[in-house]
Amino acid sequence: MRQIFPAAEGAAEIGPIPRRGRRQEAGPAVTALGALYAYPDAAAGAAPWLRASMVASVDGAASLEGRSGGLSGDADRLVFSVLRSLADVILVGAGTARAEGYRPVRDDEVWMALRDGRAPVPPIAVVTGKLDLNDDAPLLAGSAEGARTIVLTTEAAPAARRAAVARHADVVVAGRDAGAPAAAVGALAARGYRRVLVEGGPGLLGQITAAGLLDEICVTVSPVLEGGRAGRIMAAPQAGPGAAAGLRLAHVLEDHGFLLCRYLRVR
Ligand SMILES: NC(=O)c1ccc[n+]([C@@H]2O[C@H](COP(=O)([O-])OP(=O)(O)OC[C@H]3O[C@@H](n4cnc5c(N)ncnc54)[C@H](OP(=O)(O)O)[C@@H]3O)[C@@H](O)[C@H]2O)c1
Repeated sequence: MRQIFPAAEGAAEIGPIPRRGRRQEAGPAVTALGALYAYPDAAAGAAPWLRASMVASVDGAASLEGRSGGLSGDADRLVFSVLRSLADVILVGAGTARAEGYRPVRDDEVWMALRDGRAPVPPIAVVTGKLDLNDDAPLLAGSAEGARTIVLTTEAAPAARRAAVARHADVVVAGRDAGAPAAAVGALAARGYRRVLVEGGPGLLGQITAAGLLDEICVTVSPVLEGGRAGRIMAAPQAGPGAAAGLRLAHVLEDHGFLLCRYLRVR
């Protein structure tokens, strides 16, 4: 993997991608990526910093056969693990949690050297209105103490489902009904989670962007043509104003035809 923008004199090589399954021992590539993707100091301030991480095909698809995994590659998976390691919390929409079979982060999936004295793994926070989640699946039933799964829902959610989910996970009622991601993000900030990694999906990301909450987006462009069946990485909410926003390119990495781009929102 190498950095191709900004052109880095003599330091273009990020280093070889470490073997999977040895996530505890951070080598030069992980150290370099930890510095390249460090959250800005602003993330330590009052407002949380929201970073999205998405992968897309060259023709803009967010999934191959319903899942994003087919678009990924070794470099993308490494950056994914670095981004998770740097985050206080991972925010994900229930659609993605269901489609991708989300489960709690394991400690061999993050780099301890990047955890900065925080809990060994960041918790997953799922945003859901319907609470249509499997109570017995690992995402709810299998999270570790200190990184218990957080379920962010609304007052409109069925009370019986709220009670059932609360047996396993921390249920947080944020806002009256769906469509108010600011309440969910505020609830995370109130718990001290300021470095937020948004792993999608397109529906949640569209809402966060429309609400003006997104600070940066890391996009991996995968050297694949999906062919036009799948949706894009962002889906606008049905109502509300447009959310077009300027971005500044922070860096581009390249590996085997994959482009890993970090963009910061221009405020
Ligand atoms: N390319 C990538 O990097 C990437 C990343 C992630 C996902 N994906 C793909 O994207 C697809 C899933 O995306 P998606 O857009 O359908 O789902 P999504 O954005 O993950 O989740 C949408 C769901 O989140 C809940 N939700 C969102 N905003 C809410 C709010 N303000 N209040 C309450 N609940 C809220 C609702 O859940 P309820 O229905 O439970 O009420 C809604 O149906 C999958 O195919 C996945 O593989 C791709």
